[in-house]
Amino acid sequence: MMKLAAEEGADPFLVRRLSEKFCIPVIQAGQAVPDGEPVLLIDREGLTLISGSLRLRADLTGMARRLKPHALRGELLVRAAGLGKGNGGKTITAVDATAGLGEDALLLAAAGCEVLLFERDPLIAELLRDALRKAALSDGLRDAAERMHFREGDSLRGLSELETPPDVVYLDPMFPERRKSGLVGKKLQLFQMLERPCPDEAELFEAAVKACPGRIVVKRPLKGPHLDGRKPSWSLGGKAVRFDVYSFPR
Ligand SMILES: C[S@@+](CC[C@H](N)C(=O)[O-])C[C@H]1O[C@@H](n2cnc3c(N)ncnc32)[C@H](O)[C@@H]1O
Repeated sequence: MMKLAAEEGADPFLVRRLSEKFCIPVIQAGQAVPDGEPVLLIDREGLTLISGSLRLRADLTGMARRLKPHALRGELLVRAAGLGKGNGGKTITAVDATAGLGEDALLLAAAGCEVLLFERDPLIAELLRDALRKAALSDGLRDAAERMHFREGDSLRGLSELETPPDVVYLDPMFPERRKSGLVGKKLQLFQMLERPCPDEAELFEAAVKACPGRIVVKRPLKGPHLDGRKPSWSLGGKAVRFDVYSFPR
């Protein structure tokens, strides 16, 4: 069972909200916990998930270099989403239906998209919320962060409740062969710890189609099979990942 630890100076409202949300008592920071039990630590800076040797602080500010215009135009996701050419002055809307820690959504938002993010895992949702809070305070990320609109919950439902069809739906569900998933380091460990391979790929794709987007973009391991066996209109491959694009001309 996860424990919640609060350091001196931690936001008391956050401590209380998370203690109630996860139904867990608050322990002293540094207090010993049984082997294998994760600890969610709250300090002045925000949240850190600690599990064994893993210490993960969700932080998007490390991505600032990838957001510079030249670098951003080269991002495969940005190209796959059709955002490379200045968008012709039009505001592009995207739904990130599998938001995780928000890195991919940040790329879309930095490229000018208004992005609605859905994350259903309650712990990942809190780490993401914390990352978005910090991004909004960072000079380099503030504009993009203002275009990221987060809703905790299942995107299967969220997609069905959209009032306007988005231009893009983005899907990056956890891949069964995790070692080849394209995720690296701490983030991979986190998703391995918390998430089972996505059991509802077919429903996710179907929900995306029913939202009537102009295109669906799916992230896959470079040599992985297509999501739910659906052949894309075209693909963009990188070193470790591939983006499959399903176009629905309007
Ligand atoms: C591989 S991670 C996504 C990583 C993300 N692209 C990023 O840049 O950090 C997959 C995430 O999708 C979430 N997820 C999977 N199915 C979902 C659904 N139907 N609704 C909301 N979130 C979902 C999982 O909880 C997990 O956090």
